[in-house]
Amino acid sequence: MTDASFSPSEELRDIQGGAIGFLKDHERLLFINFTDAASAKAFLAEIEPTLANGLEVRSFNEAFSENRRHNGDPDALQSTWVNIWLTRSGLTCVGAPGLETFPEEFASSMCGRAALIGDVGASDPSTWQAPFTGGAEPHAAIVLAGDNLADLDARRAKVEDVCARHSVTIVGRQDGDARPSPFRGHEHFGFKDGVSQPDIEKFTKRGKGGTIPPGDVFIGYPDSEGNISGQPVTIPPPAPSAYNPTPVPPPAQPLPDWTRNGSFVVYRKLRQDVAGFNTSMANAAPGIGLTPEQLAAKSVGRWPSGAPMERVPGCPAHIDPALTDPSAETPALLSAEKINAFDFTDDPDGNNVPRGSHIRKTNPRKDVLADGDTSDKHRMVRRGITYGPEFAPGELAYGQTVPDSQDRGLLFINYQSSIARTFEFVQSHWANREDFQMPGDGKDPIISQDNADGIFNVPAHGQVTFARWVTTVGGGYFFSPSLSGLRTLAR
Ligand code: HEM
Repeated sequence: MTDASFSPSEELRDIQGGAIGFLKDHERLLFINFTDAASAKAFLAEIEPTLANGLEVRSFNEAFSENRRHNGDPDALQSTWVNIWLTRSGLTCVGAPGLETFPEEFASSMCGRAALIGDVGASDPSTWQAPFTGGAEPHAAIVLAGDNLADLDARRAKVEDVCARHSVTIVGRQDGDARPSPFRGHEHFGFKDGVSQPDIEKFTKRGKGGTIPPGDVFIGYPDSEGNISGQPVTIPPPAPSAYNPTPVPPPAQPLPDWTRNGSFVVYRKLRQDVAGFNTSMANAAPGIGLTPEQLAAKSVGRWPSGAPMERVPGCPAHIDPALTDPSAETPALLSAEKINAFDFTDDPDGNNVPRGSHIRKTNPRKDVLADGDTSDKHRMVRRGITYGPEFAPGELAYGQTVPDSQDRGLLFINYQSSIARTFEFVQSHWANREDFQMPGDGKDPIISQDNADGIFNVPAHGQVTFARWVTTVGGGYFFSPSLSGLRTLAR
């Protein structure tokens, strides 16, 4: 457990920087398998000193923003970062002590939790791509992130060299790249992403949507449930109910000391069918008196610019939302102070932002939830990036086989101290459920993952039925150890 008077900078020196947010335009994920414990340990010992810690990543990000504000040159400061995450199989291979105390969901792996999180049908692990084929999990992922492709490639070559010297096999590679200008920072359906991101108390100060305690992200700190992450709970979970049929089982024993300052990582390769999304919007919108652009914005809960629908609910008659984002009239809404300044208390019925929309499903903010639950207990530190080529107008919706030239989507990455309470809860209890928050609200139109179609209710307009445009094509549950934790594993 971490003392309340801890020094954030000291701890950040120990924490791998990816949780703080690399914020890079390019990422390369190398999925690897070790040969045996001895060579795995030798590999970890050699790579650990080269990994980016949280302090250098945070300092770089602050300097970068400062430089952009003053000089306007985004290329003046550049860096390349490397991190490593291990799966349950990887930790088993290195003989990690105390692995039996790790939570059930981590031991089961993402594939083992497929039924709970809705990875069935088109998202079933039997359909996943290498190296996750059939739900397989590699031992580890090396994450490289950088501003400059040549530097990133050079760094990757060095890492591959270290792998080769320790008989570490690269079993898969996944590239993630921000979309080109003017869509940089936007996901493939066209919406600005990463707009609402909670700060981690004492560790980050970006001011992009509230603050969560460090124990929601890292092991060894107070969390938002009043417990210390990784320790047996002092405040027990609620009894199963209709709202929460699967309360998170309390850890019987503390996680081992080497996990302190570590974090669990969810990695999901989510493929996006852009043509399917556009066609569905075009077909469904007229029936409920909306334009396709308005229905798409209702589905997300924001306009493509990131402007909150809560503040720009309608679209002035003189603006064609197909051509101009309605927030163009009030650009101040995109400022850091305004873009997250809403909590749904003045929109209980969802007339502005439907309760089923993606941002309200995944963060219902101040909405009153069943069983005394609050949105604050399930907030997400998202660190994902887009992958794949740009959508070309005229492409057909995905069929059975998706050509490489149309394989695009989001590499969803988030960090948390409890996958069950954070990612799994939001995906299974909120996004996938038609009755969250209330019967008839419908499923999250963007990420619900439990069957082919789902209803989505747009209050004051009507109900539509949507197909699924986002499918899981791979993924796993990882642990991102602290640097001192990696040194312990390497010994
Ligand atoms: C391809 C899949 C996805 C797409 C296209 C997508 C898109 C978006 C967009 C456009 C936003 C609004 C901008 C922002 O606040 O960042 C958003 C917010 C968010 N998304 Fe997703 N997302 C995807 C997957 C997921 C998944 C799998 C989860 C978790 C289960 C998730 C959780 C969230 C959360 C927590 C927010 C912030 C809500 C808020 O605080 O207002 N997203 N997403």
